[in-house]
Amino acid sequence: MKLIRLILALLSVSALFSFTYSDKGQQKLEIKDIVLTNADVVWANNQWKGITLQDLKSGQDVFNNRCHKCHGLKNPHKFTTEKLQKVIPKMAIRAKLDKQQEDLVLKFMLTVGRPNA
Ligand code: HEC
Repeated sequence: MKLIRLILALLSVSALFSFTYSDKGQQKLEIKDIVLTNADVVWANNQWKGITLQDLKSGQDVFNNRCHKCHGLKNPHKFTTEKLQKVIPKMAIRAKLDKQQEDLVLKFMLTVGRPNA
């Protein structure tokens, strides 16, 4: 009897583990939930001296709030630097951004979309 109880206990523990594990495997990071890191700030500072985490976050806010109305949020990883530099000014007009918002969105997208980021 003890052995059976032990086996049942082990089975339920392993079921719990595999449930937790597969649940984690299904979590997807959505584009709106990109988490800015220190590495992002360091990289950005090499491109644009003096840019802060707050600047990148402001760019992300504009991106999250203003860039999903006509199409879903575009994945910054899917576009080259050249492409973004060409497209974002056009999108800024469409999204009615001011120059500063446009600048911050572009820098945010270039930073999080850089190769190996
Ligand atoms: C008023 C509508 C509108 C808004 C607002 C808008 N877009 Fe677009 N966007 C479009 C259309 C139309 C296209 C072209 C069709 C497509 O690729 O979905 C496009 C395409 C794009 C592309 C892909 C270009 C390509 O050739 O594949 C990117 C990247 C993009 N938008 C980013 C943004 C960003 C970033 C913002 C916010 C600053 C934004 N869009 C806001 C309408 C909009």
